[in-house]
Amino acid sequence: MNRMSGVGTRAADTARTRAADAANTTRRPHRAEAPGLTRTPNSAAPPGTTTRTPDPAEPPPAATGFTEQHRRALRATLGRFATGVTVVTTTHRGTPVGVTIGSFTSLSLDPPLVLWCLRETSASRPAFTAATHFAVNVLGAHQRDVAERFAGRGDRFHGTATRPGPYGVPLLDGAVAILMCRRRRVLPGGDHVVLIGAVLTFHSTPGPALIFHDGGFLASGPPLEH
Ligand SMILES: Cc1cc2nc3c(=O)[nH]c(=O)nc-3n(C[C@H](O)[C@H](O)[C@H](O)COP(=O)(O)O)c2cc1C
Repeated sequence: MNRMSGVGTRAADTARTRAADAANTTRRPHRAEAPGLTRTPNSAAPPGTTTRTPDPAEPPPAATGFTEQHRRALRATLGRFATGVTVVTTTHRGTPVGVTIGSFTSLSLDPPLVLWCLRETSASRPAFTAATHFAVNVLGAHQRDVAERFAGRGDRFHGTATRPGPYGVPLLDGAVAILMCRRRRVLPGGDHVVLIGAVLTFHSTPGPALIFHDGGFLASGPPLEH
């Protein structure tokens, strides 16, 4: 993967726990240390790198309650997990709705199911929990601006090339893959809701995908050589 120059001013939570507030956090080396996390003694490791030192005598932080420092440390740790970047779209009362989502993942092939997680307090939550259908637009490496637009304020569809899809759901031009889904279930998940969709139609095109890793955007690259 090739890290894009000038990236990383916007951070988000990682794919499984990301929250909207992280999208506005300046990217910087992780320095907070939760219990059980210490800086690695390996001098070859990047500054600020932490490693897990299990201490059986130490109660897990979850048992004692997470402080803000724990949450920052957890977010940085989860950020080590690279994800693709999607914009999930729908239409609500005739208005197009879309939000940048990294928590998208496949759930089942038979039946074909996917899931993604949306923050409980997200402004688009009422639309997505009411809409019968949504589309998952998997962004290409050239669509970092789209990812940022659909994570920010302002008219997200202004200046975004779309075409009408089934059920009035807008589809994003330039996406490397699109999955059209019928909403199946909405499950509680802490400060997020989990949306499960049944895949109705899908298509993909070749080309590098947009990746989110350690709070910054990258482009997917060629396969590693053996
Ligand atoms: C790369 C990236 C991935 C994101 N993934 C998610 C996600 O999985 N779930 C989520 O609720 N917010 C995620 N966000 C944050 C939302 O895009 C952001 O909070 C957005 O403003 C929410 O819009 P809304 O309040 O209009 O729904 C992500 C942001 C970025 C930049």
